[in-house]
Amino acid sequence: MEVRTSNTPILQWTGDGLAIGLFEDAVELTGDLATLDEKLAGSIKELIAEEEFKGKAGSTISTRVAGGSQVRKLIVVGLGKAEDFNLDSLRNAAASIARSGKKQNCKTLAISLPVYHNQLADTAQAIAEGVELALYEDTRFKSEPEEKKITIETVDLLGLGGQEAAIARAAQICSGVILARQLVDGPANEVTPITMAQTAQTLATDYGFQLEILEQEDCEKLGMGAFLGVAKASDLPPKFIHLTYKPQGTPKRKLAIIGKGLTFDSGGLNIKGAGSGIETMKIDMGGSAATLGAAKTIGQLKPDVEVHFISAVTENMISGHAMHPGDILKASNGKTIEVNNTDAEGRLTLADALVFADKLGLDAIVDLATLTGACVVALGNDIAGMFTPNDDLAKELAAAGDKAGEKLWRMPMEDKYFEGLKSGIADMKNTGPRPGGSITAALFLKQFVKDTPAWAHLDVAGPVWADKESGVNNTGATGFGVRTLVNWVMS
Ligand code: BES
Ligand code: MN
Ligand code: ZN
Repeated sequence: MEVRTSNTPILQWTGDGLAIGLFEDAVELTGDLATLDEKLAGSIKELIAEEEFKGKAGSTISTRVAGGSQVRKLIVVGLGKAEDFNLDSLRNAAASIARSGKKQNCKTLAISLPVYHNQLADTAQAIAEGVELALYEDTRFKSEPEEKKITIETVDLLGLGGQEAAIARAAQICSGVILARQLVDGPANEVTPITMAQTAQTLATDYGFQLEILEQEDCEKLGMGAFLGVAKASDLPPKFIHLTYKPQGTPKRKLAIIGKGLTFDSGGLNIKGAGSGIETMKIDMGGSAATLGAAKTIGQLKPDVEVHFISAVTENMISGHAMHPGDILKASNGKTIEVNNTDAEGRLTLADALVFADKLGLDAIVDLATLTGACVVALGNDIAGMFTPNDDLAKELAAAGDKAGEKLWRMPMEDKYFEGLKSGIADMKNTGPRPGGSITAALFLKQFVKDTPAWAHLDVAGPVWADKESGVNNTGATGFGVRTLVNWVMS
């Protein structure tokens, strides 16, 4: 499938499917659309009336146009209220159009949507992202993929001639999002610490990154007792990934992106019980997947910023070697942790990853982690929790997420709640009481950042996975975080 820009007037474009967008409660046709409707013998007006189309965001209607017309199918998508129009309206509208065009066997598709605030490049990029992300499908694990005989071959973005660079940029971004989706969709018997390290190796080869993989012995030497405590029961070797992108010349900033990388979370000896969603815990490396996905895009965009991509990858398993509930672990900054719950393992792996990054002399660190069910309870499946003591970084990330169409909501870092992590025997416990569970998790992480001026933690337990198709997301892995991270690094 190829997304192209085009200056062909809408009245002249010929092909299988032509898609237009209309705002909510403003579905009367004017200008070129009125002329187009006349040309098509009033079929757009009829379609709108018959379907009682109101232009609601996400609503899509379509009809067959009389044979011999310039197009075979006409697709009308709702853009929502004009006052709420933004880049994400375009991204989502394009996703709906792409799905509709695919269902209707359009080989060639044209999209004509309004330009957002005279920003041709951002408009083209958002539409191209919507198309590419909606058409992603994971057929890797089907023995006989039920392949459709007819697939979309070309998508022309009408009125956006000359925006080739924006479309190329969308493709670079989508390649990162899709890598993250594939890693999260991949089950735990396919995506392991070993294959995650291999993926990092492939990125290093493809984009000229520096790569350091710390093996278990290396982690032992660095005193990463928290990470290794989690890894103890796995039959697979833990892998600590440190991938570095260095621009030519002096970097404007030095940043780290850290991702929680549990390729499976059984809970450990505090095993996840019935109804806990244990069978979905392949997603527990969603932070790490977003980190590697962002690396793939950044390797192509080549900003003048140094970026360290870090992930302590392992599984949380059960065996005679497993850490016991109550064990005391020592992290690489010397702090001791009483493990009162082996299922709060992500923060243990992140503790050593944060200490490692904190020693690199960076301007800022952002970690992403499928850290707590509590955050899903608080914010639902579409919104990530953002925790940071730093207002400037909070603003940067909010702007990056907003432009990306990925929702972040800042959560409080209530220092008093750290009392819930007080241990009688060690420096802290790894698990606090149930109330405020995502906040105590963030306060735990904060103990492992000392010298870096800005740090933020994104709890992405909800949005890395979608139970049903919506916007640019299909059922399954969403690749959440990649677009926000890329925007943040580029800002
Ligand atoms: N990986 C889970 C969190 C999670 C839950 C991710 C749902 C995705 C969807 C994490 O390791 C975990 O088990 N957290 C516990 C913490 C508790 C023991 C303090 C939780 O949220 O229940
Ligand atoms: Mn867990
Ligand atoms: Zn986990």
